[in-house]
Formats: sequence, C-alpha cells, structure tokens
Amino acid sequence: MLTIRKLRAGYGDFQALFGIDLDLAEGETLAIIGSNGAGKSTFMRSLAGLIRNDPGAIRFKGEYIGSLPANQVLERGIALVPEGRKLFPSLSVEENLLIGGYSKRQGAWNLERIYSLFPVLANLRKRPGTALSGGQQQMVAIGRALMSSPGLLLCDEISLGLAPTTIKDIYAALPSIKADGTAVILVEQDINQALSVADRFYCFQEGRISLSGKPGEVSKEQIKAAYFGLAEAR
Ligand SMILES: Nc1ncnc2c1ncn2[C@@H]1O[C@H](COP(=O)(O)OP(=O)(O)OP(=O)(O)O)[C@@H](O)[C@H]1O
Ligand SMILES: [Mg+2]
Repeated sequence: MLTIRKLRAGYGDFQALFGIDLDLAEGETLAIIGSNGAGKSTFMRSLAGLIRNDPGAIRFKGEYIGSLPANQVLERGIALVPEGRKLFPSLSVEENLLIGGYSKRQGAWNLERIYSLFPVLANLRKRPGTALSGGQQQMVAIGRALMSSPGLLLCDEISLGLAPTTIKDIYAALPSIKADGTAVILVEQDINQALSVADRFYCFQEGRISLSGKPGEVSKEQIKAAYFGLAEAR
C-alpha cells in the first residue's frame, strides 16, 4: 500500500531525514519510536504532504505522492492527527470534525460514527474545542482525521501528556478504526504503548532508521540501544 525509498526531508538547509526506507501493507499498524528530535514528526509531515519531498520517494497505492500538496494527499486517503492536536480554537467540537470531512471521500466515517466511537464528544458537540480536557481534544483531533475516511491514518504522539486511563480510552478506539481495513502509523515516545498494538515497528535515530522488526522478535536491549543510539544496535 505504501512504499517509501530514500526519503530525505528537512527545513531549509537543515536536513532532518537521511534516506528513510519503509513499507506498509494494507490494514497494517506500524509504530514509529525514537527520542526527541529523531525525525518522527518530520516523517509524518512529509507523508501528509506538509513538507514537499523528492517526487519519487513516496508511493501510495501505486501513485507517487511525494510532490503533492496536503489537500491532495488527503484526497488520496492519508490523514494526519498532528502532534499537539492543532484544533481550530474558535470552532466547536462538531465544526472541527466537519472540517475534517471536507475532502468528501466516500467512506465509512461520518459524525454519527465518530460520536459512537467517542461517546463523550456527543454531549460536548457545541463546545469550543479548546474548552475540553486534553484527552477529549485528542479524541476530536482523531475524529477530525477519521472524517475523511482515510485508508491510512497517521497519529503523531496521541498519548503525549495524557493520564494513563485516558490513553487507555483513546487506544481502545483503535480496533474499531482498523476494522474497516484502515492502516495506521503511530508515532509514540512511549515504547511499550506503541509496541503493544503494532504489527511492526521502526525506530528512528537522528533521521535514520536504527532498527525495525516485529515487537515480539527483538529484545528490550536491542530496542533500547536503537532508541538511544548505543553501539550494539548497529
Ligand atoms: N519547523 C522546523 N524548522 C526547523 N527545524 C525543525 C523544524 N521542526 C523540526 N525541526 C528539526 O528537525 C529535527 C527532527 O525534528 P522532529 O520534530 O521531526 O523530531 P521528532 O522525532 O518528532 O521529535 P519529538 O519527539 O520531540 O516530537 C530536529 O532536529 C528538529 O529540531
Ligand atoms: Mg515529534
């Protein structure tokens, strides 16, 4: 479904990704782990079309999308839940959700289904998004991305700063999201959380992949070494 080869990306003269190779099958859940500044968000933004990159680096459903702008990437079925949620502060919960559906992709998701996925949002629909708790805001951000009925959902640090019970509530939505065959890429600094739900993982370190595999097939020591850049990971 997604093939990435030699993806390089950065900001002006600053290079943040140095040749990422990554594959994703339909319906698969990938975790991307790595410490601060490893390039995880840059990777997600590149994939979502927020950072232009080499036109030949990213192929999604047979089409090279690396040079497409974000709205066209969204139309093709890749939706990003951005780091820090980025809700529209002057809009209500429901308006924030509706904005996510503007691309009018035909698909399974609509307001009603978002409210049944996150029932707490139904009673808050008229509230400004920013008047919600952190966990509720995160639910709106996920719902907004789902409103485009994506084939691939990108989640950048959806558990950051949330209480463990709230993280559990949010991750409980994952099976329903995947039920339609939606593939998911999860960026998390919480390694255990990410690996507990992922089919495969990639560890980023200073803009490169330092380790990849299936969660059950690598040791904690290997992951730790790849995460922190210790010599034994190489
Ligand atoms: N808008 C930007 N302008 C310039 N440099 C940036 C920008 N955003 C990120 N960077 C730099 O790019 C590198 C990768 O950052 P990125 O945000 O992708 O890392 P990350 O793995 O998501 O980190 P974190 O876990 O802190 O979110 C870092 O060196 C960072 O300082
Ligand atoms: Mg980040």
